[in-house]
Formats: sequence, structure tokens, C-alpha cells
Amino acid sequence: MKTTLVINPKGGAGKTTVAINLASYFATSGIPTTVMDYDPQGSSLNWLRQRPMHLTRIHPANAAPAKPGRMRSMDMRVPEDTRQLVIDAPAGASGLLLQEMLSRTNCILIPVAPSSIDIHATANFIRDLLLAGRIRANNIRLAVVANRVRKSLPVYQPLERFLNSLNLPLVSRLDDSDVYVSAAETGVGVFEMEFAASVAERQQFMPIAEWVDSPKLIVDPKVPSLLPFHPAISVPGRSGLRVVTKGFPAP
Ligand SMILES: Nc1ncnc2c1ncn2[C@@H]1O[C@H](COP(=O)(O)OP(=O)(O)OP(=O)(O)O)[C@@H](O)[C@H]1O
Ligand SMILES: [Mg+2]
Repeated sequence: MKTTLVINPKGGAGKTTVAINLASYFATSGIPTTVMDYDPQGSSLNWLRQRPMHLTRIHPANAAPAKPGRMRSMDMRVPEDTRQLVIDAPAGASGLLLQEMLSRTNCILIPVAPSSIDIHATANFIRDLLLAGRIRANNIRLAVVANRVRKSLPVYQPLERFLNSLNLPLVSRLDDSDVYVSAAETGVGVFEMEFAASVAERQQFMPIAEWVDSPKLIVDPKVPSLLPFHPAISVPGRSGLRVVTKGFPAP
């Protein structure tokens, strides 16, 4: 069984969107697939409840922290025939819950929303993950997905340079598109939607599925610097972000 953890400590980065589309891709390819939702909001499990009966079944596993009277171990059971397990992480996961998710996974996908605040937080999360050592020790593969990309908002360059410096791939860019929203609302993935209406989204999502499905490569992320990610530090001379200080002449 291959396990992919979709995680970002920031809320709304696109974790559930990536997790459900990945799961639906595997399911439509005939691969027994389970979605494990660690989020008490249960967005992926809700998506599964909307799933039309005629589509290939995806098994639901609820790994959200236990409520009184609930047997967590029963809810989070993964069928033995599962070949692809996709884990949807909650925002802000840390401590034991984060360790538990990391201990299960072979691959990590990190979707990032296009704001400098999100990019900053995500880069620091990646740095902390790598510094903690489990990624290297367990040979976990890690990739980033730029999500909700808008041409008018070219904010990903500093993140790309940061990832390059760590030998980590930016595996795809997903447009800001209503197709993902309606897929989420109707229990399907972009690969299960009308072809003509989802061509661009399929093309953009394919590299993610291929990356997860590719044979295990030797992972060699570089050890990051202990400095927190800061565009001005990691990209000297970058012109996109400028600190405007009173008294400086206009450029
Ligand atoms: N590429 C996209 N284009 C358009 N809408 C998107 C895209 N990705 C995500 N969304 C929408 O943005 C919202 C947040 O996405 P999503 O739920 O996947 O994020 P999340 O990281 O799982 O959030 P949370 O931290 O709350 O679990 C949802 O309404 C989703 O439909
Ligand atoms: Mg979510």
C-alpha cells in the first residue's frame, strides 16, 4: 500500500481539494483506494457521502481525534486490499497527531495558496519538517503543489527558488477554477467530470498523480538552513517584494 499525506498547517490551502482528486484519480483507474480524514471538519468524508453510487467506491476512514463514545480505531480501519491511501490532514496539525500522520506516510504533498503569508508559513513548515529528520530517516518523498494560481498574481517565484535550494519539486500548478469547487460539491474528481469541461484541470492534476504513482526514487532533500524562510534573505536583490521605508528616495 502506498500512502500520501496531503498537508499544510495553513487553513484553506487546498489539502482537501488535492486529497479528493487524487483519491478519485486512483479509484477511476481501478485501484482500491481509501481516504483517511484526520480533520474534525470531515470535509473529505462529506465529499465521499456525496459520491454518486455508480462511481467506483472509495473507502472512508475517519481518523479525527476521538469523541466520547466513539471507537477511533474502528472508524480509521483501512481495508486490507487498499493500494492507495490518501490522508487529508487538518489545518494546524502538530505534536502527536502530526507524528502519527508522518509515521504512516510514504509521500507528502503540500498544496500552497498564492499569498505571501501562506508561502512564508509553508516554507517554514517544510524547513521544520526537514530539520526534524523523520523525512530523511523514513525516506519520505515530498513535493509542493501551487494551488489557485492566477496569472495576475505571480507570487510563487521565491517559493520555487527556496524549493530548488532544497532539491524539492513544485510538481504542478492548479488554476483557480470553479471546476474544483463543483467537483468537491458533487462527490467526484476532475477525472470523473465531463471531459470537455475539465480538460485543463485534468492536465494540471496529472503530474501530481504521476508523481505519487512513480516508483520510489531515492530522496535527497538538502538540509535547510536554520534561518526562517524570508524572501528577502533567500532571494537577495529580488525586486518583487520591497520594503518601503520613509525617507528613502523612490526608485
Ligand atoms: N484550485 C482551486 N480553484 C478554486 N477553488 C479552490 C481551489 N482549491 C481549493 N479551492 C476552494 O477553496 C476552499 C478551500 O480549499 P480546501 O478545502 O481544499 O482547503 P483545505 O486546505 O483542505 O482547507 P482546511 O484547512 O479548512 O481543511 C474550498 O472551498 C475549495 O473548493
Ligand atoms: Mg480540508
